[in-house]
Amino acid sequence: MFEHIEAYPGDPILTLNENFQKDPRQNKVNLSIGIYFDEDGRLPVMQAVREAEAAILNDPGPKPYLPMAGFAPYRDAVQGLVFGQQCPARAQGRIATVQTLGGSGALKVGADFIKRYFPQARVWVSDPSWENHRFIFERAGLTVNTYPYYDEATGGLRFDAMLAGIDALPRRSVVLLHACCHNPTGVDLDHAQWEQLIAVLQKRELLPFVDMAYQGFGAGLDDDAFAVRELANRGVPSLVANSFSKNFSLYGERCGGLHVICESAIEAERVLGQLTGSVRSNYSNPPTHGAKIVTRVLTTPELTLAWQSELSAMCQRIARMRLAIHDGLLEHVRGEALSRYIKQRGMFTYTGLTADQVERLREAHGVYILRSGRMCVAGLNEKNVGPVTEAIAKVLASAA
Ligand code: LMR
Repeated sequence: MFEHIEAYPGDPILTLNENFQKDPRQNKVNLSIGIYFDEDGRLPVMQAVREAEAAILNDPGPKPYLPMAGFAPYRDAVQGLVFGQQCPARAQGRIATVQTLGGSGALKVGADFIKRYFPQARVWVSDPSWENHRFIFERAGLTVNTYPYYDEATGGLRFDAMLAGIDALPRRSVVLLHACCHNPTGVDLDHAQWEQLIAVLQKRELLPFVDMAYQGFGAGLDDDAFAVRELANRGVPSLVANSFSKNFSLYGERCGGLHVICESAIEAERVLGQLTGSVRSNYSNPPTHGAKIVTRVLTTPELTLAWQSELSAMCQRIARMRLAIHDGLLEHVRGEALSRYIKQRGMFTYTGLTADQVERLREAHGVYILRSGRMCVAGLNEKNVGPVTEAIAKVLASAA
């Protein structure tokens, strides 16, 4: 029966992370997966999350199914965080929001929605993008192409080429964008570039699908949502996926949201109904626990403040690590290949190391980064940054 089923080649991120767990070496360093580890190399449980969880467990209630669209107070709180409390589109009921299984769940429900209602549309992702973007959209039956994005020579953005590429797309093409902390490059658009891009999206009647998995890890919770809020304020019909895996350190609770910005409240109600139907036919309804934690933090002012301040401390630690690896590599790497460690934002730096160099880093030194050269700088700490720097220097020297 199953003879024709070929072996799964594995996932470029999650399989590598699993292989890291199996590696018996004591000195191994995991800079592969996009996870924030603290100074002691541990996955933090944020204080606000601890307190919210304690309060929830102190008053355990029955555990009914959640509605298909998710926990209503969660949906409202998440919409407020993503779009801002004062967002006119939100006040007018023009945003359809469902609770999803993390950001990936939001992308999948969104991809199914696109396949159903825009069956001819192709999806355009940045070159490069998070590997799972392609997998999710292709598995939903959509064709995925790329638009220009990263400039290896400068470690920056090919903005003119990106804009020209997107300006040439057929009407109603889906353009997948990263709101902030671009994965895998750490290269983002500035406000003026977003304004220009949004004007093109509007003029060409394209359908933006914005993935915001790192809100709070770039220039702050509000600034990171700039593009999303601009789209809503300018009334551009769009899809937005958001996730609490990273900014709440709630990876395994699978908390996210899918938001569709519509042109009227009536349209939003119909869209919400169809998203709900999609959830029902996939997994019926989402889980409760993580959504309750996020809701309590976002609706209790002192917990919100505690969460924001811990998140900002995490960002400051990442910035220190960026500086530490940059300074450690001063003697070994030059120009843009060095400055990208401090210029690129969020959890990732696109190191420019080749697949062979990445393999040598792993095999000879136990340092895991992605085959693409993506390094998760949020996995560095005061103890491992020195050995990681030395390992990179050795790999580069042996290649020279
Ligand atoms: C990553 O990019 O490493 C994370 O978003 C984890 C994942 O699911 O790929």
